[in-house]
Amino acid sequence: MIHIHRADNYETMSRKAADLIFAQILLKPDCVLGLATGSSPVGIYRELVKDYAAGRIDFTNVTSVNLDEYRGLSGDHPQSYRYFMNEHLFDHVNIDKARTFVPDGLSENPDRSCADYDALIDTLGGIDLQLLGIGHNGHIGFNEPGDFFAKGTHCVTLSERTIEANKRFFASAADVPKQAFSMGIQNIMQVRKIVLVASGADKAEALHAALYGEITPRVPASILQLHPEVHVFVDEAAISC
Ligand code: F6R
Repeated sequence: MIHIHRADNYETMSRKAADLIFAQILLKPDCVLGLATGSSPVGIYRELVKDYAAGRIDFTNVTSVNLDEYRGLSGDHPQSYRYFMNEHLFDHVNIDKARTFVPDGLSENPDRSCADYDALIDTLGGIDLQLLGIGHNGHIGFNEPGDFFAKGTHCVTLSERTIEANKRFFASAADVPKQAFSMGIQNIMQVRKIVLVASGADKAEALHAALYGEITPRVPASILQLHPEVHVFVDEAAISC
């Protein structure tokens, strides 16, 4: 079941989505949050940091698991997703960093560490709320369009389109890692509640295909049509087609 929450602009969209995460933490203070990086959730993290600074929210018992990490980047590389999470959220709230999990970009045994990541999610009792962005090609996490829906955490070869989209964070496209570790579609489908955020006209086509198109691994986000609780937060531009 998909619920669409419209907002006039990115700031309002971010506040509304932050409210849902805020509510999740009130409902279950020891919840497991699945987190995402990229431009889309930055406003949400900013709002949650404000809520924390104002004494409205407590992350003491929250655990987090991130969707993905670039292969080959250590957590102190400024473009790594671990670094991103520290910078945008973890360093500014009272979450216990030992309970914040991001796939290990430097793993020397990818098969083992991907299986361990799946086992970790199971041990935590599953994910209560998963935050997602959407790629221009309909990817979620780094599950790129393909012939089948990937199940668990795995190593992905990034598509040219994703490298192109993400080069803005690097000195050049050549510096963008070619691979990443990502939760799979099954990990995402098994979460209890999904919050997907999309902003800007450049996301409109992918979002439309995901919400109203055929359910196909060619548009990985389309599988969300089968999830029992998906909240899609959009600004007007993202829903313009
Ligand atoms: C990030 C992630 C990706 C992004 C997507 C959109 O952890 O898993 O799926 O959510 O590429 O990125 P932005 O928000 O930068 O447009």
